[in-house]
Amino acid sequence: MYRNIGCGEIDLTYVGKEVVMSGWVFRSRDHGGLIFCDLRDRTGVAQLVFSPDYGEASIHKTAHQLRAEYVITIKGDVRERPQGTENPDIPTGGVEVYVTGLEILNRSEPLPFQLDQDVEIAESNRLKYRYLDLRRPEMLKNIVMRHKTCKAVRDYLNDKGFLEIETPVLTKSTPEGARDYLVPARMSPGCFYALPQSPQLFKQLLMVAGMERYYQIVRCFRDEDLRADRQPEFTQIDMEMSFVAVDDVITLVEGLIKKVFNEIRGEALSTPFERLSYSKAMERFGNDKPDMRFQLELKDMADLASLSSFKVFLDALSSGGRVKGLLGKGMAGYSRRETDLLTAEAQSLGAKGLAWIKVKEGFESPILKFFPEDVVRQMADRLQATSGDMMLFVADKERVVNDVLSRMRLDIAKKQNLIPAVDKFVWITDFPLFEWNEEDSRFQAIHHPFTSPTDEDIKKIMDGGDIDLSGLKSKAYDIVLNGSEIGGGSIRIHRPELQKEIFKLIGMAEAEAEERFGFLIDALKYGAPPHGGLAIGLDRLVMLMTGAQSIRDVIAFPKTQRAACPLSGAPSHVDKKQLRELYISSTVPDEKTAAD
Ligand code: AMO
Ligand code: AMP
Repeated sequence: MYRNIGCGEIDLTYVGKEVVMSGWVFRSRDHGGLIFCDLRDRTGVAQLVFSPDYGEASIHKTAHQLRAEYVITIKGDVRERPQGTENPDIPTGGVEVYVTGLEILNRSEPLPFQLDQDVEIAESNRLKYRYLDLRRPEMLKNIVMRHKTCKAVRDYLNDKGFLEIETPVLTKSTPEGARDYLVPARMSPGCFYALPQSPQLFKQLLMVAGMERYYQIVRCFRDEDLRADRQPEFTQIDMEMSFVAVDDVITLVEGLIKKVFNEIRGEALSTPFERLSYSKAMERFGNDKPDMRFQLELKDMADLASLSSFKVFLDALSSGGRVKGLLGKGMAGYSRRETDLLTAEAQSLGAKGLAWIKVKEGFESPILKFFPEDVVRQMADRLQATSGDMMLFVADKERVVNDVLSRMRLDIAKKQNLIPAVDKFVWITDFPLFEWNEEDSRFQAIHHPFTSPTDEDIKKIMDGGDIDLSGLKSKAYDIVLNGSEIGGGSIRIHRPELQKEIFKLIGMAEAEAEERFGFLIDALKYGAPPHGGLAIGLDRLVMLMTGAQSIRDVIAFPKTQRAACPLSGAPSHVDKKQLRELYISSTVPDEKTAAD
């Protein structure tokens, strides 16, 4: 028998009892006479005591050999720790185990990094030895929280009558806006499967198939540039429902989030969450994933700017641009060097410059001469700037103004410690249906091309005639937590005529639509019910719940920024024979390695 209790489970109620435990040697302190050793398993850590006066002499001798991460099994008697030696920080801190039996099950070489110290370990090393990194208690905590989240999600959706259904991994391209990962098909020379960017098309087909309520905790694959909150393969909590409108999906998801936060964090969220239309979010926060934990809203300054003689502002306005302001809370004390740095930051984000006015006894700014004093006072009123603050302004094309100020808003909030420790959810609704793609000079779907327009706009589209594509609105919604997009979805198009029309509007020829999505259009012809759904990014959700800095910290075996796995060495070269079987010839020179 290896164990009758977990290391983290013994407490004062076990005093006087004999226990059998197995695990890893976390730390050991050899005082010559007494040897103390922390034994760790998944449940926690217990203090073992090897005493020359307790148990057989051979045990004490073996205990001298114990080193970090040796795997051992022990038998011993639980005792209360002597007064003054208790450790109130851990649940087992009131007791220790006097060992009467010890067996070394396996030895460990010295580790590439220490597990029991709070030192920064290079991430490349952590990923290479991920199986060791995962032994660290904080990583275990993340993995456990991820598991509990999945369980709570399954419980909730099962209770609500959802069926968990798997969809193919070897499939056809789904347009979610990233590059596909392709898999060569040996049986069909020259053809490729695409790994799914999401199960979007299949979940819609499941609605046509009458499943009514579907979910899946599912891996998605997207070949895109990686950031701290993106992975090439990531997991979605994916759902779809028939006979629902926007409010039904939103209410269901709010219930889900509420349950997860309550069960996993003991946090009682109040629902419904705030909702904000896309256009209001852009106007007030400059982006569609606003962090709602603090104020600092962007304010339109066009009317006041036009009363100035500041050419930078006037030129921006006359060429159809915007002038918006942002409150630099508590930043009036910034030195010249600091405001220069701030300006450089705005410029690195794409602005031509950054105008600022400090609010002290009076106002202070190199551009003050261009503004009548009562105009500056009104600007301060609008931004709610009071003595000690600084006002910041950017004048440019709307996109640049929003982009720069929304990012500065976050930076300022962090720097000035304005972010309280709360969780703020917000739904972003009423997205535009299409956005202009400058690179390809055409409109494209903001979400995916299966998203339903609003009823009003469906009518406009089906009536034909001239329509302003940039003005169409969709039944899409995103859910945002503390400035992070954690999920998105929409009500879908369920009529084939409308779906075809949408493909036409984004400039997709009928033949191409047929080739890529013919199977969906066909399915819609056979009595597709109205349907809609949403997918939550599980990794992002868990990252935010654990407070991890990177999505990689909540994934057991994540990839690096270069989409590589330092542990397994993927991606790797394959031999020529394998490529020949797939009718693939490589144009990469032989000596060029994956790491180049
Ligand atoms: P969307 O593309 O918005 O929607 O994806 C849903 C959520 O998945 C998360 N996510 C990611 N997480 C980690 N790494 C990535 N590379 C990554 N990309 C996306 C985000 C995002 O909100 N089929 C639609 C859903 C629907 O319409 O029902 C879809 O995939 O948190
Ligand atoms: P200049 O007239 O270029 O010397 O700029 C005067 C001030 O206006 C400087 O502080 C610039 O950083 C700022 N500025 C320049 N261009 C912009 C802009 N597009 N928006 C906001 N401020 C700007």
